[in-house]
Amino acid sequence: MSAERPTLRVAKIREGTVIDHITAGNALLVLRILGITGREGFIVSVAMNVPSRKLGKKDVVKIEGRELSEEEVDKIALIAPRATINIIRDYKVVQKHRVKLPKVIKNIIRCRNPACITNEREPVEPKFYVVSEEPLKLRCHYCGRIMELSDVLASLYEGGKSA
Ligand code: CTP
Ligand code: ZN
Repeated sequence: MSAERPTLRVAKIREGTVIDHITAGNALLVLRILGITGREGFIVSVAMNVPSRKLGKKDVVKIEGRELSEEEVDKIALIAPRATINIIRDYKVVQKHRVKLPKVIKNIIRCRNPACITNEREPVEPKFYVVSEEPLKLRCHYCGRIMELSDVLASLYEGGKSA
């Protein structure tokens, strides 16, 4: 068996969304960004650190019976900028697009400035502007704090708003 040959580790799906080419190790964070906990009832398959010709290693997430909107999935560009979104119908890929970071990120990460109004008891929805994609830099709408990739990851690991 050649190391180059891709192996199918998770079965093909009939209907739903395949998020492919996720930065290796980030699949669980992708699910967090999408607000998928596993308690919704639909089938979710996760493959981590699988060999990829393009990326060396990658993660893949397959969500059956649910199509995700471009708006929902584009947020994952924060932590998986090379991800591709495949919409599957009747076993066929009917749509494929590369994620694209939206200009404004709402609600999925918290501002790291403890004094920011979004961290006070009265909830104000966090909102950030993308000022740079590579390297990632987001600016808080309320306090101006610049968030970098490490801040975004820390916020996601802490649980953010939705956990
Ligand atoms: N896939 C799936 N179920 C299907 C069809 C496709 O789970 N019924 C998955 C494939 O396993 C792959 C992704 O969806 O992870 C994209 O499928 P396809 O476009 O056929 O693969 P590639 O040509 O390798 O994609 P790319 O060019 O984006 O690398
Ligand atoms: Zn702030």
